Amino acid sequence: MRAEAAAGRAGGIVGLVPTMGFFHEGHLSLMRAARAECGLAVVSLFVNPTQFGPGEDLAAYPKDFDRDCALAAAEGIDIMFAPEPGEVYASDHATFVNVERITAGLCGASRPVHFRGVATVVAKLFNICRPRRAYFGLKDYQQARAIETMIRDLNFDVDLVRCPIVREPDGVAMSSRNTYLSPEERRAAPVLRRSLVAAGQGIERGERDAGAVARQLCHAIETEPLARVDYAEVVDADSLAPLTRIGRAALLAVAVQIGRARLIDNLVVETAS
Ligand code: PAJ
Repeated sequence: MRAEAAAGRAGGIVGLVPTMGFFHEGHLSLMRAARAECGLAVVSLFVNPTQFGPGEDLAAYPKDFDRDCALAAAEGIDIMFAPEPGEVYASDHATFVNVERITAGLCGASRPVHFRGVATVVAKLFNICRPRRAYFGLKDYQQARAIETMIRDLNFDVDLVRCPIVREPDGVAMSSRNTYLSPEERRAAPVLRRSLVAAGQGIERGERDAGAVARQLCHAIETEPLARVDYAEVVDADSLAPLTRIGRAALLAVAVQIGRARLIDNLVVETAS
């Protein structure tokens, strides 16, 4: 991978799309952006064990390597980098990247080792592939902010490219984990987006009390009997710190358990005041 990336750097810029596979249109949209902007477009496919907590879905995480290779090839991706866990982590691996503060709340609160695992593997992928650009989806908004912070703090020579959330026609954010939903649960899933949009409209109508918006968001999700709210929060879109009053740019972020699936979604609401 190092040799291929060095050759790619000689002829243009290297773009990296880090993934855990089981591709859907969200992943493919990142690949299209990388293909359009970079001389060498690399996709990494690695289900990273260090970002899964005990009892999470590491063993059950969906896989279809042959289909993923065909989809990446159809997007014109030059290299699919799919290492084995033993190649990525030494048996006595001892070094981790911890991005503080920005990972404390939201998904970091319910998944304590998650972002440490994400930051560590992304730092390793950056060092292996040495991309000039790396493509991340805003479905995982906190992840994108954590990696932006790591890039700045550790002086990686990488531009993070933020890519918009790709949705199903009914508004559900595409996710490999949507495959865990039964047909009935899948019919319940649009409640995340619907509740976010309704809360966003409240802000547009003039609501500035972040607590009131968060409560409205939570209640709207709870109208769906199959949904259990993990969190429904209104935070500053840059620092991800909790807000009391909604200012310039607020992030409305939710995590909801529906059946076996923990689904996340978010909405950025910009206001003039
Ligand atoms: P994974 O969940 O496979 O997602 C890979 C990339 O696709 C992430 O940047 C994610 O935000 C983006 N993505 C997923 N669903 C999307 C959607 N509906 N619209 C737009 N982008 C979407 O995120 C990871 O893998 C891992 O944590 C990883 C960064 C690879 C580190 O292991």
